[in-house]
Amino acid sequence: MEEDGKFLIQGFGGRRIIDGEIRVNGAKNDALPGLAAALLFRDGLRLSNVPALKDIDGMLELLSGLGVGWSRAKPREYQLVTTKLSAAKLKPEIAKRLRGSMLLTAPLLARLGEATFPHPGGCVIGARPIDIFLEGFQAMGVKLHKGEKIYRLRVPSGRLRGARIFLKNVSVTATEAFLLAGALAHGETVIENAALEPEVTHLAQFLRRAGLRVRGIGTTRLSVVGAKSLSGLDLNYRVIPDRIETGSFLILGALAAKRLVVRGVVPEHNRAVVEMLRRAGARLEVGRDSIVVQAPSAGQSYLPLEVKTHEFPGFPTDLQAPLTVLLTQAVGESTVFETIFEGRLLHLHTLREMGANVVVHDPHRATVVGPTPLRGRHVYSPDLRAGLAYILAAVVAEGESVVHNAHYVERGYERVAERLQTLGVKIVKE
Ligand code: EPZ
Repeated sequence: MEEDGKFLIQGFGGRRIIDGEIRVNGAKNDALPGLAAALLFRDGLRLSNVPALKDIDGMLELLSGLGVGWSRAKPREYQLVTTKLSAAKLKPEIAKRLRGSMLLTAPLLARLGEATFPHPGGCVIGARPIDIFLEGFQAMGVKLHKGEKIYRLRVPSGRLRGARIFLKNVSVTATEAFLLAGALAHGETVIENAALEPEVTHLAQFLRRAGLRVRGIGTTRLSVVGAKSLSGLDLNYRVIPDRIETGSFLILGALAAKRLVVRGVVPEHNRAVVEMLRRAGARLEVGRDSIVVQAPSAGQSYLPLEVKTHEFPGFPTDLQAPLTVLLTQAVGESTVFETIFEGRLLHLHTLREMGANVVVHDPHRATVVGPTPLRGRHVYSPDLRAGLAYILAAVVAEGESVVHNAHYVERGYERVAERLQTLGVKIVKE
């Protein structure tokens, strides 16, 4: 992971130059549970439309460490072979920086009756506790041993038992983990206060396609009756389009496009961001699998917004940082209420250094008063979504910016410099 990669960007100074189209890739946060689900199948699983991202490489390396064979038939298409799992221990140096690694613990417990792993890392956006996972696994019959930095989990009875689990916080990956654990558990697992994200729905639908009795799909009460064994032979997990990449490009278009067509999208996964951008004065046309976005017409200004992040179908926390760039250009006072994470407003200090008028009231609330011109400068990505926000700010700014820590951005956005160059953005990766 090259720590010193950076993006050099020449700003448009608020002019609307972008004209073109861009296709979204498979969703990182759908590929991760898909790769974890492969462990449930005694023979293996095929996955398609898998994005080429560092987090995917990390998951594949963790899977190899467990004895999973994998081959890439062609770009974005993987065949995983799980006939002989040889270990139930996640490589700590990888797992501790990859939050998605928590998803592997569930199928390991379900398939092998044990799992050893470090507290997973991920971004700096918040504490990222795993208490919901640990409590739910214990309800399913898991014995927990917490070492210095390592957790050792095992199933003394040899097989997980179905349990009724209420999520004290709506957690996407915890919901996915209990679906995966319940898939091979004895009896029914009920997940209450379950997440409604499209990636959760996709996983639940896939498990139903694998032959399991799954109920409550699309509701906050999910249930699955476990099987003794599963075969993935004639199944293909097709990763759904990335709604966060979609939203990121729509915000770019709202900021700097004469006309931008975002292709290969699932419109109903993007209602919140489309609604927000329309309220801000951008023009959007939603098609069957594409969305056209245009900045407000000449002479029209951006309107201020009240942004409150919320679990799906509300406005996604992963798009909060990118949207705040647009708030700096809106005429008047906008408010930001980040309800999910306590460390996800840090990017506002950097936007202030670029010229934004920002007040951060507490770890969850801030005010942005616009419009303020932004000036290019050196900025340092703390996480993948703030990193993307800095690229958007650099595009809008006057002058040149250098966005450091490119590897963070590349965790969630494939070939971002090349793809933005095709739209006329003056960006190069060093
Ligand atoms: C998923 O994280 C996404 N990651 C995140 O995307 C996304 O920001 C988040 O959902 C919210 O939409 C994946 O799907 C791989 P959480 P997830 O940590 O499910 C609390 C990105 O940029 N909680 O469960 O891991 C937690 O404190 C990433 O792609 C507990 O209390 O989110 C938070 O308040 C960043 N105990 C809430 O749940 C637990 O055991 C959700 O956080 C687990 C979570």
